[in-house]
Amino acid sequence: MTRINPSILNSDFMHLAHELGRIETADWAHVDVMDGHFVPNLTFGLPVVEQIVKASPVPIDAHLMIEDADHWAPLYAEVGCQSVTMHAEATRAPLRLARHLRGQGVRAGLGLRPATDVSAYADFIGEFDMVLIMTVEPGFGGQSFLDSMLPKIERTREAIKRSGAEVWLQVDGGVSAQTIERCAAAGADTFVAGSAVYGAEDAAAQIATLRSLAARHAH
Ligand code: DX5
Ligand code: ZN
Repeated sequence: MTRINPSILNSDFMHLAHELGRIETADWAHVDVMDGHFVPNLTFGLPVVEQIVKASPVPIDAHLMIEDADHWAPLYAEVGCQSVTMHAEATRAPLRLARHLRGQGVRAGLGLRPATDVSAYADFIGEFDMVLIMTVEPGFGGQSFLDSMLPKIERTREAIKRSGAEVWLQVDGGVSAQTIERCAAAGADTFVAGSAVYGAEDAAAQIATLRSLAARHAH
């Protein structure tokens, strides 16, 4: 199945409720939480995300680009995010945290920065519901897609297949009508698109275009 998860990072933060309404045909709303430490940018935290959960027509896919995910991630599940992605580089005990999140009834995601290898996680990839592969250095929307990440997407898809578990493979950063087919062909099934969707006149039309381009290579 192909999932299109627009990132609200490049939306108009003064009118978030309206901006969320523009993506009601999406699968999930991707919400980028940044703390100014793990990445050189700062967005919003728990109180704002709690309001976003209430205003969103689709479930929330929280992407935590923050230090100390072991402490913070369960709190994002508590405020209603149905998928919570920790970064491998910001978590002391990813397995314990994944089990904790699943125990809270939410999906547990594992995020990998561009320079983080997936092989250290391959043996227990089925402990996660999703792997998020960054296809830009995290921190900002509107950056160019890193083609050098395609082999990692392929290796991750192979590891998922070997595990026999149903793990979603998400790509995040520079995903657009120009790049989404490469990601899908390499094995991604869940696509974050920020500027591509929010920069479009008609967000719903852009979501439909991305979905049909990706579905040509469905896994
Ligand atoms: C970047 C964020 C992304 C970002 C994607 O650090 O994790 O979710 O919003 O934006 P685009 O699609 O514009 O690269
Ligand atoms: Zn993101």
